[in-house]
Amino acid sequence: MRAKSKREIAFKINIYRIRKIIKKKWRRVLSNINSDSNNKNENNFEIEKVINYIEDNQDRFLEELKDFLRFPSVSTTTTHKKYIKDCANWLVDHFKSIGVTDVKLNEEFGNPLVLVNYIVDPAKPTLLIYGHYDVQPEDPINLWTSPPFEPVVKDGKIYARGAADDKGQVFIHIKAVESYIKTFGSLPINVKFIIEGEEESGSEAIDEYVKTYTDTLKCDAVLISDTGWFAPNFPTLSYALRGIAVFEMKLTGPNRDLHSGMYGGAVANPLIELSKIISGLFDKDGKITVPGLYDNVLPITQAEKVELAKLPFDRTEYMEDLNIGGEGGEKEYSIVEKVWMRPSLDINGLFGGYTEEGHKSIIPSIATAKISIRLVPNQTFAEINEKFRKYIESQIPESMKLSLKVHHGANPVLVNVDNEYIKKAQISLKNAFNVEAGFTREGGSIPIVELFSNHLKVPVVLMGFGLDSDNIHSPNENFVLSNFFGGIKAISYYFKELAN
Ligand code: BES
Ligand code: MN
Ligand code: MN
Repeated sequence: MRAKSKREIAFKINIYRIRKIIKKKWRRVLSNINSDSNNKNENNFEIEKVINYIEDNQDRFLEELKDFLRFPSVSTTTTHKKYIKDCANWLVDHFKSIGVTDVKLNEEFGNPLVLVNYIVDPAKPTLLIYGHYDVQPEDPINLWTSPPFEPVVKDGKIYARGAADDKGQVFIHIKAVESYIKTFGSLPINVKFIIEGEEESGSEAIDEYVKTYTDTLKCDAVLISDTGWFAPNFPTLSYALRGIAVFEMKLTGPNRDLHSGMYGGAVANPLIELSKIISGLFDKDGKITVPGLYDNVLPITQAEKVELAKLPFDRTEYMEDLNIGGEGGEKEYSIVEKVWMRPSLDINGLFGGYTEEGHKSIIPSIATAKISIRLVPNQTFAEINEKFRKYIESQIPESMKLSLKVHHGANPVLVNVDNEYIKKAQISLKNAFNVEAGFTREGGSIPIVELFSNHLKVPVVLMGFGLDSDNIHSPNENFVLSNFFGGIKAISYYFKELAN
C-alpha cells in the first residue's frame, strides 16, 4: 500500500471532523422541527435532544464520575465505614443537584442504602434501578500503574477501583436521569433507585430491606448494570448469574508455633493437613468431590449447546490474554460452559506460618483457607453450605481442630427473557451502539438478584456495559469511555422505549 502523505491524512481528519459537526447540527435542526410540529407539549421527550445533551456534557460527566470514584468505599473490611458513608452522602447530594428531590438513605440494616423515588405518573411503568457504590479492596497496590482512588483517563478508558464495578455503571443511570430532567424537566417513566453499599460483601442489608419494605420497591421491572459484554462491540443482555457460597476454614494444630527441629515429625503441621484436604476436593477429572454437590445441577441442553457454538469465542485468544498454557476444571466441558453452567470451587486465599523475608523454622499453630464455591441453577446456597460442611468435617484428622465460618452466600438465578422489558432493552442497545445485542450468561454473582426476581416477581433486566479487559477486582480496573457514554445513551433510549 502506498504511504499516505501528511497533508492527505490531515485533510481526511478534517473532513471527518466537519462531518461530525454537521451531523450534530443537523440532528439539532431536526429535533427542533420535530418539537415544533408535535404541538407545544414540552414533554414529548424527543430522544435527539437527550442525546445532544449527553454529547454536550460529556466532559463534565467524566469529571463527576472521577469525584464518585475518589471515595475508597471498600466494603469487604470494617476499616472503611467512613468512606462508605461519605460516598452514600455524596450520591444523595448528587441526586439533589440534578433535580431529584425524593432521595434518602436507609441505615437500618447495615451500610447505607441510597433510595430514590421519582414518580411522574402512576399510570406509567415504574423501573427499579439497582447498583452498588461499594468496591473491592485495591490490593495488590504495587501493581497499579496509577493510584486506585485517583482516577485518570488514558487511551479512552478511565482507571480507578470501581470504574466498571460498579460506580461507572451506576453513574450511567444517574446521568441518563439527569439528561431527561435537564432537557425536559421530567422523565418519561417512573424511576426508583436502590443503590447498596455491601454488594461485594454479601448484600445482607439490602436483603433485609427488600424483605421488610417490599411495597416501597413496587415496580414493573428491575434494571441492573453490573455485568459485562461477551466481547467488545457485542452488547449483551445477561440472563443468568451464578450463585456463591463463601467460607473461611481454619485448622488449628498445637496451641502455639513450635520449633520444627524440636517437634518436627511428631506434631502434625496444620498447613500440610490443610493442603491435603484442599487437594482432596478435586478428583483426577477436575470434579469437585463434595458428595452430592452436582445433584441439582441442571444439565446443559442440546439447544443451549447450539446457542453456545454461535458465540464469537476464541480459545487461543483467551489463553493468550491470561498467559496460560491450558485449562483447569472439568474435562468434558468447554470454557464457556464451565464458567456459566457448571459449579466451581476456588481457594481465594491461603495463609499461615511464616511468610515474610527469609526463613523461620517452625510448625505453625494455625492454617487458614478462604474458599468460595460458585453455584448454578438449581443448586442453592443453603444446600451447598450443608453438604460442604459435612464433607469437610469428615476430613479433619484427630490432630487438628476445625473452625469453618460461612461468610455469605447467594443463590444462582436464571431470568426470564421472554418479556417486553428485555425486547425493549435489545432495541435500546441497538439504537445506542448500532449492533444487535446478544444473550449470554455470567459466571459472577449479584446476591440480591435472586430476591428481586422471586420476591418482587417482576422481570429483571441485566444490561451491563463492562468488558473482560476492565480488570474488575484486580489492579488497574478501568471502564471504557465509549461504553460509559454509549451506556448513558442506551439507558436514555430505554426510558423512552418503556414510556411507549
Ligand atoms: N459485578 C460483579 C458480578 C459480576 C462480575 C457479574 C462479572 C458478571 C460479570 C459483582 O460486583 C461481584 O463481584 N459480585 C461478587 C459477589 C460476592 C462477593 C458475594 C462475586 O461475584 O464475587
Ligand atoms: Mn458489581
Ligand atoms: Mn464486584
